[in-house]
Amino acid sequence: MKKKVKNNVFWVGKVDWELKKFHGNEYSTHKGSTYNSYLIQEEKTVLIDTVWAPFAEEFVENLVKEIDLNKIDYIVANHGEIDHSGALPALMKHIPDKPIYCTANAVKSLKGQYHQDWNFHVVKTGDKLDIGNGKELVFVEMTMLHWPDSMATYLTKDNILFSNDAFGQHYATEKLFNDLVDQCDLFNESIKYFANILTPFNPMLRKKLDEVMSLNLQIDIIATSHGIVWRDNPMQIVQKYSQWANDYQENQITVIYDTMWNGTKILAEKIAEGIGLADPDVVVKVYNLAKSDENDLITEVFKSKTVVMGSPTIAKSVLHSVAGFIHLMKELKFKNKKAAAFGCYGWSGESVKVINDLMADAGFDVINEGFRNSWNPDPDSQKAALDFGKEIAV
Ligand code: FEO
Repeated sequence: MKKKVKNNVFWVGKVDWELKKFHGNEYSTHKGSTYNSYLIQEEKTVLIDTVWAPFAEEFVENLVKEIDLNKIDYIVANHGEIDHSGALPALMKHIPDKPIYCTANAVKSLKGQYHQDWNFHVVKTGDKLDIGNGKELVFVEMTMLHWPDSMATYLTKDNILFSNDAFGQHYATEKLFNDLVDQCDLFNESIKYFANILTPFNPMLRKKLDEVMSLNLQIDIIATSHGIVWRDNPMQIVQKYSQWANDYQENQITVIYDTMWNGTKILAEKIAEGIGLADPDVVVKVYNLAKSDENDLITEVFKSKTVVMGSPTIAKSVLHSVAGFIHLMKELKFKNKKAAAFGCYGWSGESVKVINDLMADAGFDVINEGFRNSWNPDPDSQKAALDFGKEIAV
């Protein structure tokens, strides 16, 4: 059933309450997600984006209940990724000649995925489309936010920015608007989404935010493609993006480790204790990688000024969970963060050096040689780990 966004603009998307993993298995979605599609019914009728492929038939069936598909004049594909374009094949079977407005890169991605020669109309930033009743759509390329084909669409007079992935969250709700949902949930899912998806594109995002601001568009509503529609102070999420895109950090130090026989775990907790003793103001958090959600951990890394990584030595290296997590951090191109390493060993003891090298390669500023401990930490080495924590804090 369609839901009214404003005047003649309606949400016609899908709430996916069951989604637990996104991008294959790469992103945990504890609170599900939504795929937001919008119908504009002015003199011209416009469909903006669709839904993920598994919901294609359901989407088209629901759309048919709302409108004769032949009455759709224009389709706007802000982004080619399958969670927004996945219902296009089912839809276009009914209306194969309708024009699809999208970027040149979106033509590549849509053709590459669906192998169809639909009636594409390529648009660039500033191009406009008259939809009657004195209203226009204005297109804004959002290159690398987060794909080369990404675009936003602005509806004049109603002052709605259809931002696609930007400003979204993986958050299932029947409440359409930001002021109607739990604000903690909304913030947590928004920052997790930014940390896990948008961090690598910070330099481009900074430029794009400046560019969008310089257009001086009055933005009353930001209608994203995931989660809620920002109608109450929509610029709050733009301001948050400005902060987050500037190599964001809080006064937080996060200790992340994996362990085999709990020796490295004991070190982790002593190091955290030392940090807390040396700086009562700093937020210290400790996570066992094997028992934590990696995407939630990435959000903690995003908020951290320093990350302290620990692994015992195994086969002259580190546990694969630690290597894999450092690889994930490297992909996200974190900037302006310090790192230190620790770990227990029984024989050769290479893990700390391996972590230091991996963290430096991942773009972290490694602040010391790290803390190695032979066999299980005795009271003296526990005291030394505590002192190591104090050093990190100052
Ligand atoms: Fe929500 Fe890039 O797709």
